[in-house]
Amino acid sequence: MPGTLILGAQWGDEGKGKITDMLAAEADVVARYQGGDNAGHTVVVGGQTFRLHLVPSGILYPQVLCLLGNGMVINPRRLLAEIDELAGRGMDVSPSRLKISGQAHLIMPYHPVLDSASETSLGAGKIGTTGRGIGPAYTDKAARQGVRVQDMLRDDFRAHVRAAVQQKNIVLERLYGQPPLDAEAIAEEFAGHAERIRSYIADVSKLLDDAYRAGKRLLYEGAQGTLLDIDYGTYPYVTSSSPSAGGALTGLGIGPNRIDRIIAVAKAYQTRVGAGPFPTELCDLVGDMMVERGHEYGTTTGRRRRTGWLDLVTLRYAARVNGLQEIALTKLDVLSGLNQIKACVAYHWRGRELQDFPTDAEILAECQPVYVESDGWEEEISQVRTWEEMPEEAQAYVKLIEETVGLPVTMISVGPEREQIVRK
Ligand code: GDP
Ligand code: IMO
Ligand code: MG
Repeated sequence: MPGTLILGAQWGDEGKGKITDMLAAEADVVARYQGGDNAGHTVVVGGQTFRLHLVPSGILYPQVLCLLGNGMVINPRRLLAEIDELAGRGMDVSPSRLKISGQAHLIMPYHPVLDSASETSLGAGKIGTTGRGIGPAYTDKAARQGVRVQDMLRDDFRAHVRAAVQQKNIVLERLYGQPPLDAEAIAEEFAGHAERIRSYIADVSKLLDDAYRAGKRLLYEGAQGTLLDIDYGTYPYVTSSSPSAGGALTGLGIGPNRIDRIIAVAKAYQTRVGAGPFPTELCDLVGDMMVERGHEYGTTTGRRRRTGWLDLVTLRYAARVNGLQEIALTKLDVLSGLNQIKACVAYHWRGRELQDFPTDAEILAECQPVYVESDGWEEEISQVRTWEEMPEEAQAYVKLIEETVGLPVTMISVGPEREQIVRK
């Protein structure tokens, strides 16, 4: 049995954590393949809320082995804090259950500083990053100046960290006029992190291959979403990794034949945190209602998410660039009570109608949505568990999505809890 890939179809926060947790009930391994603690994946079980940033959303099941792939960037302080929090809540997060790729890169203390300095220098044109140092860490990786997790195994790790900080201090001081960081103190701190993290380091690609050969059930969990992808997203308003399907291969060291099911998680409406074009954005009472009913505040930064009508042009695009096979639609319950619901099926741009998502964010910023309207439904649906119980209007909305995107909606989430799901 190859594996199931779960990824975000929009601008992140689609509910990947919830869907991954749910499917992890029938998995042996859950592996994250990119991103860092910019991600915030919420899992709600029996009224208890778990906010995961680095640890895969399979950790709540004792049988699941959780892997952090080489495509990730890992802040050791935050990882250890997350491990401690989960352990404090009774989870087994020992090295027998959680493994970290030695080839993943470390987020060093200078990366968040550089992230915020870069944002400040961009002024009004800033990206609106999470400030976690993600872009600078991937920059160093590409520039071959990164510090890797497996460097923690080196005898001279302390000196290695000291040298890296001294090098970056030159940039901080000369380019950004920032005070230098204390290289000695950071080297000392990281030597301590290395002591604890060492036992978690593994060859994740090899572990996945072994698991595959042993007939284990594999889940690959994406962070962020297709429209934040460094290649396919609304560049430059993107993250610095590859949340799309290709990222799972390079971020875990697996071949394409190790994925046989690709599920996109998509919200029943659209949200975005940070800057960048958003054709269906609503700056009105309906948008406010989505924020309030959907609790649209970032899991990582607490920022209010921008909200708008579902954009099916972006979903068709996500279907193409990821080779999607099915959609898990989340937060349909949030739309209860609206008289009319709109969905964007094309764009108007300079007198033309565009069916395809433009690859240039500047064009996207000028696009006007072409909407189809459907009737809303009054009733709350958070208690609905079967397709037949769904209000007719909600069924019609789901069918519209399926027909416009050309993919089946196989799961409909109607609340944050694990059981609040309708399988179709
Ligand atoms: P992720 O980053 O894709 O894992 O998504 P987040 O966890 O950042 O954001 C999704 C939010 O919506 C979380 O607070 C979830 O608990 C919540 N959520 C997930 N599915 C549903 C749903 O179907 N209905 C409602 N009302 N909330 C949901
Ligand atoms: P999950 O996994 C939503 C956004 C930021 C910003 C852009 C770049 O929870 O879906 P970065 O810090 O990555 O350099 O910021 O990407 N962003 C997210 N938005 N959900 C996320 O993760 C995000 N991770 C990054 O808001 O616009
Ligand atoms: Mg999130």
